Amino acid sequence: MTVAPEKAPDRIAGMFDAIAPRYDLLNHLLSAGIDRRWRTRAIRSLELTGREVLLDVCTGTADVALQARRAASGAARVVGVDFAGAMLAIGKRKVRRAEESARIALVRGDATRLPVGDGTVDAATVAFGIRNVERPELACAEMARALRRGGRLAILEFGEPRIPAVRTLYLWYFKYFLPWIGRFVSGHRAAYSYLPASVRSFPPPAAFAALLEQAGFRDVRAVPLTFGIVYLYTARR
Ligand SMILES: C[S@@+](CC[C@H](N)C(=O)[O-])C[C@H]1O[C@@H](n2cnc3c(N)ncnc32)[C@H](O)[C@@H]1O
Repeated sequence: MTVAPEKAPDRIAGMFDAIAPRYDLLNHLLSAGIDRRWRTRAIRSLELTGREVLLDVCTGTADVALQARRAASGAARVVGVDFAGAMLAIGKRKVRRAEESARIALVRGDATRLPVGDGTVDAATVAFGIRNVERPELACAEMARALRRGGRLAILEFGEPRIPAVRTLYLWYFKYFLPWIGRFVSGHRAAYSYLPASVRSFPPPAAFAALLEQAGFRDVRAVPLTFGIVYLYTARR
């Protein structure tokens, strides 16, 4: 039986604040750099033309926000929202260094009460954030509210591989090796044990796709990436 981890906003924000200084390093290390490809794939699915306003929910250290600006025809402007101040502080530093401060605004806020008006954004993204939200259905409804009609959504979230041998290997890595190395590098005891627990308690792809439809999205697709270690959910408002 999977025990759902506690996801009270204060606990989650505190955990990400604590691991913020090592977050980017661990992300690239634990995924052997594949995380960059997953984010690129998500941005590509939005078919941006260079004119869009993109909302990046759970933006963390702003990797998706920056990627959306770097893409060949990226977004015109990006608004990134996150409730962990230390993650945003690192994101802001990266945005300044990339000289993107005029185009990327990082705002402190909760995914379930997005600080943007109705129908004001053309595209929305969430990368590895939605499973941390205590009430994901509220965050999805909020993104549906913020998106204009026809606007595109791309969500990346961890899944579990379906091929038995890959699944066994991956679950071992996720359950034992990842929490150990995460603890060692970040110095945070709970965060990298929380990660596998949060993935296991996240709804399976079909159930999450249904949740997106209930929130007001259409053309919902769940595309497995890298053997289903990650799923890319795409949809239209
Ligand atoms: C695993 S990180 C992902 C960061 C970034 N999107 C990336 O791809 O690296 C998850 C982020 O979601 C944020 N988060 C989780 N729940 C949130 C909520 N309810 N509202 C705003 N941010 C939230 C955390 O603070 C954290 O920065």
